[in-house]
Amino acid sequence: MTRVLVVEDDPQVGDFIEKSLQRQGYDVPARAATGDQALALAREHLPDLVLMDIGLKGPVDGIAAAEQVRDQLGMPVVFLTAYTDEVYIRRARATDAYGYLIKPFHPQELRTVIEFALYKHAITRRLVERERFVSTALRSIADAVIALDMDGRVTLMNAVAEALAGVAEADALGRPVREVYRALDPDTRAPAPVPGPARLADLPEPALRLLVSASGVEIPVEESVSPMVDDAGRAWGAVLVFRDVTERRALERRLGISERLASLGTLAAGFAHEINNPLAYVVTNLDYLQKALDGVEAAVGAGTAFAEIHAALHEAQEGAARVGRIVADVKGLSRPQGENRVWLDVHQVLEAAVKITRHLWPSRATIVRELEPVAPVQANEARLGQLFVQLLLNAAQAIPGPGEAPRIRVATRPAADGRILVEVEDNGPGIAPEVLGRVFDPFFTTRPVGSGPGLGLSICHRIVTDLGGTISLDSAPGRGTRVRVELPASAPPDPGAPA
Ligand SMILES: Nc1ncnc2c1ncn2[C@@H]1O[C@H](COP(=O)(O)OP(=O)(O)OP(=O)(O)O)[C@@H](O)[C@H]1O
Ligand SMILES: [Mg+2]
Repeated sequence: MTRVLVVEDDPQVGDFIEKSLQRQGYDVPARAATGDQALALAREHLPDLVLMDIGLKGPVDGIAAAEQVRDQLGMPVVFLTAYTDEVYIRRARATDAYGYLIKPFHPQELRTVIEFALYKHAITRRLVERERFVSTALRSIADAVIALDMDGRVTLMNAVAEALAGVAEADALGRPVREVYRALDPDTRAPAPVPGPARLADLPEPALRLLVSASGVEIPVEESVSPMVDDAGRAWGAVLVFRDVTERRALERRLGISERLASLGTLAAGFAHEINNPLAYVVTNLDYLQKALDGVEAAVGAGTAFAEIHAALHEAQEGAARVGRIVADVKGLSRPQGENRVWLDVHQVLEAAVKITRHLWPSRATIVRELEPVAPVQANEARLGQLFVQLLLNAAQAIPGPGEAPRIRVATRPAADGRILVEVEDNGPGIAPEVLGRVFDPFFTTRPVGSGPGLGLSICHRIVTDLGGTISLDSAPGRGTRVRVELPASAPPDPGAPA
């Protein structure tokens, strides 16, 4: 049964209303005569609706009491009034009243107004709940969300969007979206088109953008825009959703490198094999010629002609040796078949690599060791050693600017899930962003012709991925370079276990 609280300070009118209500099947749990009493009784009885006389005597009139009932208890209120006064009606309207009854009224009117008020209240409540649900959903979503009105002004911004754009929602509300969410075309760096409430038919595809945050940081994001439309299909706003794709792009890049290197590895193995045979007889024959020349020279006596032939031979031998080194490096790109893996102490292998490369470092270079104990890894000693040698060589070749002594830092520490982290860092010139994406490419080098084939990092990549680990470079011009190698967890063999 619908329960109605009656608030009326005239006892006779009150009696009349109460009886009319009861006759029409309503329950009247209580009657109040003042505003204060109305609030207290409403709280006590929690009626479905409050019938409120506007012109209550006392400090709290009907309109003030209705406001409190609405704000504190969320109940619908229907006003009873003898006034048709404009001012009263306007004030009453501000309280979101659900209806008015002008006294004197017919009992039948009472029913109509109450039922309509209850109906309207139920709908409003559903709408409010719906809106709360939608805005909670938008706010708690893991993607960044900005809602826009038809003029492209911000009406909502969730926490993820605030964090990525570097703008607080409070500062963003009402501003044109482009001031808040500054996106560039990643290729041309031209400002991306303003996302508007597009028609349903031509919804744009998700696009890749470069988001420039308030602090100037550039973040690659994937952006999509959906219009908000009413039943008739008319747009009344739009939702802009974007997410940070830095990680994904890095992953794609790593996968791309792995794939390229894998196919190259197969090629490299064949190539190295094919070159090695002819190279072997080139070297043997050069050695033979050298000895033969020495013999002839001893028989006929030295002369300038011999000196020239000696020089030419020497050059040919050097060239052959260089080809030999490159072939050996290229072989490093192929996955060795059946290589011998043993349990290795990372610190020992690292120290050996330091010793091997030491004489190639600049004379003033210093080394900093930050070696935390780490678990042993199962690997081939020569391959793991080559990894560290290549990284140390690159670090040694990275000469810092004037006034700074070259410094190389090697560090080991346990990483998450039992993995092992090895870092080789230098304070050299760093790597320009446009170069950074290519350093793992075989034969990519910025060094002068003849000084390195550009295979070091591609070999490192091969070795690390063969071990199931990852390698990444953190570098920027003027900031030095830090190479991070993460090797997978591997428990050392249990000596007590049966073989
Ligand atoms: N520590 C570093 N500091 C600055 N640049 C580096 C560093 N390590 C690598 N690079 C850049 O990456 C490029 C590729 O490195 P990589 O080791 O693969 O080849 P390389 O050193 O040029 O030749 P190689 O290693 O075959 O002798 C280098 O030419 C250099 O531009
Ligand atoms: Mg190198």
